[in-house]
Amino acid sequence: PIFDEPTNEPVLNYEPESKERKNLIQKLKELKNKELEIPIIIGGKEVKTGNIGKCVMPHEHNYILAYYHKAGEKEVQLAIENSLKARKIWDEFSWVDRISIFKKAADLLSTKWRSTLNAATMLCQSKNAYQAEIDAACELTDFFRFNSYYATKIYLDQPKSVEGVWNRMEYRPLEGFIFAVTPFNFTSISGNLPTAPAIMGNTSLWKPASSAVYSAYFVIKLLQEAGLPDGVINFIPGDGSKIGDLVLDDPNLAGIHFTGSTSTFQNMWKKIGNNIDKYKSYPRIVGETGGKDFVVAHESANINVLVSALIRGAFEYQGQKCSAVSRAYIPRNIWAQVKNKLIEDLKDIKIGSPEDFSNFMNAVIDKKAFDKITSYIEYAKNGHDSEIIFGGNYDDSIGYFIEPTVILTNNPKSKTMQEEIFGPVLTVYVYDPSDFEKILKLCDETSPYGLTGAIISQDRDAIIKAERELANAAGNFYINDKPTGAVVGQQPFGGSRASGTNDKAGTIINLLRWVSARAIKENF
Ligand code: SER
Repeated sequence: PIFDEPTNEPVLNYEPESKERKNLIQKLKELKNKELEIPIIIGGKEVKTGNIGKCVMPHEHNYILAYYHKAGEKEVQLAIENSLKARKIWDEFSWVDRISIFKKAADLLSTKWRSTLNAATMLCQSKNAYQAEIDAACELTDFFRFNSYYATKIYLDQPKSVEGVWNRMEYRPLEGFIFAVTPFNFTSISGNLPTAPAIMGNTSLWKPASSAVYSAYFVIKLLQEAGLPDGVINFIPGDGSKIGDLVLDDPNLAGIHFTGSTSTFQNMWKKIGNNIDKYKSYPRIVGETGGKDFVVAHESANINVLVSALIRGAFEYQGQKCSAVSRAYIPRNIWAQVKNKLIEDLKDIKIGSPEDFSNFMNAVIDKKAFDKITSYIEYAKNGHDSEIIFGGNYDDSIGYFIEPTVILTNNPKSKTMQEEIFGPVLTVYVYDPSDFEKILKLCDETSPYGLTGAIISQDRDAIIKAERELANAAGNFYINDKPTGAVVGQQPFGGSRASGTNDKAGTIINLLRWVSARAIKENF
């Protein structure tokens, strides 16, 4: 069974009165009633520094879920030593044994741990139950299962042997340790970044986003229960730039697996470049960074499909997906219809705590994000070729709440059409339908990113033109769908240009970055 192609974890729907909803409500209560103290975990042992950070609920920021200990220089050094020590042991595991640990983790997550991971993600990252379910429960389970499956394909892929010669390929882990730096917005990505290299025999230091230490802690506990040996993944929350500087200075750094901002990734790359003489090998650099994801509508677009792509694409999880739609190009001859439906549907959206299951939107992650997002809203309110046609209000007195906001601009290169906002703000540019081809070019040139995008059209020629013209504008390209919600094993996720190295998470492409292959020839 270890070689079977997995199926995706089914998404539960949490209908009122369903068993899964009751379990989840119970778990939310349980987690809220327990103020957790989260240690650093190095070599399987809990370490406490007394240098404390807080995990709060973004939708009620005075509510403390947990305190966590921050790693300093001593802990980083200890984590490096432990990962190097564990690497020797982990390397001696057969790949079949390694994979069975992650398959076990997947099974535990889809059953016993499901409500805990979902509840933690709802409380700490302010996701509604559906958004938590597709992330923490389903996508993370899928990452464990599909990575395990793809790893078996890699290990079984062997070169040709000939008469008297036995050739083989040894897919060795990299020599050193991996640095996994994970984002707040997906518990699944957070769990995937340290585990994908581990499946291939590597050990790592894991620095979770400070605003998502809470759910990350449950992931490491789950992995421990699944039997992950001590030291394979060392959990070191703390100050990102301090930890980063220490880690990137170490000669044993073998790779970084990163999801986060473009500027942080570029700074890390520069530091690695400056340190290149120090390292034993060239570190592998794998990163997924920003996006300025688009929807281009053709005049033949189905209006319902288009409006659904805009609303779900731009506003699910408050627009805080790297894949979220933040600019749209709509032809003038359908704009009135689109605008009416968009505004009518947006009026139905409820915003508030994820504990109220009827809320479609919750809070943005923290004060810094709130200030950044609202500064773009203020920019649009102050003219700048822009007009706010829906939303635009915000309030951080209890939680970091921002209304879904739609900006209409007559400047296709306005600031909000070009810069990543990472919040519930969509900018629309209305174009003359005869300019469709020009709009494709403009869409391609407007931002430095290349993550996701969609064409909404019922005209095959227009779809083909968009596919061609936008070939490098999106690593994940959608036709008649929202450009979010990639499913592991179905739409491998990742983008190029300023969006990252496009090493598609949860695929063979990604796993091969974590091996250094040795070709062996033996005569007999
Ligand atoms: N993989 C997510 C999506 O497709 C974004 O990170 O929405």
